Amino acid sequence: MRLLERILVNNPLYAWLQRREVANLYRLARLPAGLTILDLGCGRGVETALIADAFRPGRLVAFDLDRRQVQEAGRRLAHNGAAESALLLADASRLPFAAERFDAVVEMAVMHHVPDWQAALREVARVLKPGGSFHFVDISKRRYGIGMKLMGHDMQALFTIGGFRTALEEAGLTLERGIGRPVTPVFDMVGVARKAA
Ligand SMILES: C[S@@+](CC[C@H](N)C(=O)[O-])C[C@H]1O[C@@H](n2cnc3c(N)ncnc32)[C@H](O)[C@@H]1O
Repeated sequence: MRLLERILVNNPLYAWLQRREVANLYRLARLPAGLTILDLGCGRGVETALIADAFRPGRLVAFDLDRRQVQEAGRRLAHNGAAESALLLADASRLPFAAERFDAVVEMAVMHHVPDWQAALREVARVLKPGGSFHFVDISKRRYGIGMKLMGHDMQALFTIGGFRTALEEAGLTLERGIGRPVTPVFDMVGVARKAA
């Protein structure tokens, strides 16, 4: 991650936004406790701890592409007592997991960093169990295109809401709730998609 973005997402205000958005992702599709959940692109682990609190998984696996973020997440989760979580370094577009391993996958503000985000969505579908759910909150080209271009962001990684919806369907994920109405003004797309049972 670039320095500016690292500063934008590693601060108490962003942590407050995350708390509200994770609670909303849970509200959109309440899951029973005890499931196996993947936190895709966990950053510094704030969101991982929030997912543990809101979704009460039996097993929580979290990963990120950035070694420093994963290290910080490790320190945070150790402090947090989230002993059931496994943390690793991995790329969302090539997941190191067997097919049909997770009941749910949660992502916040990661897909717009992945140049081949369509492949990442296919990977989400692959690792979900039949009937499993994908909970996402992210930003789209519509609101952030110009700003991201000025920041030197990889524009291939940015999508329109319509393009994301189409790619979900092509990956075999049916949109169940959303896309729209995030609870904080930073994000402009949120939803839950499901793999066929
Ligand atoms: C804006 S931050 C969001 C982090 C976290 N989800 C949060 O909301 O705090 C984007 C994160 O995506 C990670 N990332 C970028 N490309 C990735 C990829 N291909 N696979 C996994 N993580 C990736 C970055 O390292 C960074 O931690």
